[in-house]
Amino acid sequence: MQRLKDKVAIITGGANGIGLATAKLFLREGAKVMIVDKDASALKQAVAEMATANLQHCQADVSQRTEVEKYVAATLSAFGGIDVFFNNAGIEGTVSPIATYPEDEFDRIMAVNIKGVWLGCQYVLPKMRDGGSMVITSSVAGLQGFAGLGAYVASKHAEVGIMRVAALENSDRKIRVNSVHPGPVETQMMRHIERQLSAEAPDQAKDGFLAQIPFGRYALAEEVADLVLFLSCDESKYITGNTHVIDGGMIVG
Ligand SMILES: NC(=O)c1ccc[n+]([C@@H]2O[C@H](COP(=O)([O-])OP(=O)(O)OC[C@H]3O[C@@H](n4cnc5c(N)ncnc54)[C@H](O)[C@@H]3O)[C@@H](O)[C@H]2O)c1
Repeated sequence: MQRLKDKVAIITGGANGIGLATAKLFLREGAKVMIVDKDASALKQAVAEMATANLQHCQADVSQRTEVEKYVAATLSAFGGIDVFFNNAGIEGTVSPIATYPEDEFDRIMAVNIKGVWLGCQYVLPKMRDGGSMVITSSVAGLQGFAGLGAYVASKHAEVGIMRVAALENSDRKIRVNSVHPGPVETQMMRHIERQLSAEAPDQAKDGFLAQIPFGRYALAEEVADLVLFLSCDESKYITGNTHVIDGGMIVG
């Protein structure tokens, strides 16, 4: 039995990493999927690879209101409704202590990670069918601090606040809202962070993260997608307003 049969899903940041793995899984589970990303070439590659009318794409910057309106309109026009919203696009930005953190980088991270997620809530949730589900990708960095990642950590904590309010404000329509909190995942984002921590020896930076993970490895994007699928389908129909950690034991209390 397909768990998202005939459901319509929007996935932001859907051209790479966790978003792309989730798009592939959702398609296998019977959904019609709109992937939204600012990366035009990765979008085209994803669509060519999967080659199905059930997958459409929209190039958009989630931090711009008019572009959010554009991807909502494109989804309604392509598929006629919205049931699932994976509010996932995010950036890691510069690794630097707060004392020396570049102000323009701070603004850029807030624009994508907070405003992008916020605008998604503002423009997608009112158009969703009753009984739908939204999942926000926060991080273990949304639940605890990591030195050098102050702006990212702040933005990922803010996403939890947005998730909690959106869950309360949409409960009358039985739209569920949850956040997922991965530890390090094998995507380009961790490669960027590792290179910033040690340009000459990124593998050593990776070893530093691995030493903090009891399971001794990063998550696969597909493993995060499995959690997102659970939170998006009816198997989780009584779960809303909560944080869901997937981290191989990294932040066990
Ligand atoms: N990789 C990790 O270790 C990790 C851990 C915890 C949480 N996360 C979160 O998971 C989410 C997905 O990250 P990922 O690891 O798949 O990274 P990724 O870089 O592989 O994918 C992110 C995608 O978002 C897109 N994007 C970035 N800014 C955008 C914008 N303004 N508008 C539209 N699209 C934009 C990128 O083009 C990219 O395709 C992010 O929110 C990230 O913070 C990642």
